[in-house]
Amino acid sequence: MFKLAVFVSGRGSNLLAIASEIKNGTLNAKIEVVVSNKEDCKAIEFANQEGIANFIVSSSIGSNSVSYSDLIIELKNRKIDLIVLAGYLKKIPSELIKEYKYKIINIHPALLPSFGGKGMYGINVHKAVFQSSVKVSGPTVHFVDEIYDNGLIIDQAAVDISSVKSPEEISKLVLKLEHKLLPSVISKFVQKRINIIDNRVFID
Ligand code: GRF
Repeated sequence: MFKLAVFVSGRGSNLLAIASEIKNGTLNAKIEVVVSNKEDCKAIEFANQEGIANFIVSSSIGSNSVSYSDLIIELKNRKIDLIVLAGYLKKIPSELIKEYKYKIINIHPALLPSFGGKGMYGINVHKAVFQSSVKVSGPTVHFVDEIYDNGLIIDQAAVDISSVKSPEEISKLVLKLEHKLLPSVISKFVQKRINIIDNRVFID
């Protein structure tokens, strides 16, 4: 079975979208573990309800938290195939990136390489998109490297935003697409359909 580690920080709607595609049989994978930097969030509540193992990662020593080094050991022991950042707000340390080269993906709620980078998360992204007056937006799934929102782009989806009246409206439209795009990209990893040739990503 293809094993996922899903990293989250908040609401967890993408985690739910992945879980529901697994339940309805369209995604042949297992959420082996959920990782968060916050214990008190909806996504961790969901993991607990579903009986999914979960870890809180923190640089400070707390009774319930693990360090990134311990987490790497845990992920290795559990033979994780793919790490999925689904709304994870902390920077991934380079020791983890090195261990999982081309095996960590992130979903970003705008069409990269525009509207990415430090501080570009949540509604900030959609505000910037709205203020720029661009006519299309949509999620990007990309590989994670040491720089925020910088790794090779795997897949994107686009939506017409030419008549939206607020950043919140863009957020809703993009989130709908996220819930389809992320499970579909994961499924392509499961089917080994993602190839990197000359620094470009191809999907068979
Ligand atoms: C999503 O918009 C995702 O693109 C971004 O963070 C948000 C997470 O939302 N990286 P949720 O926690 O999955 O509901």
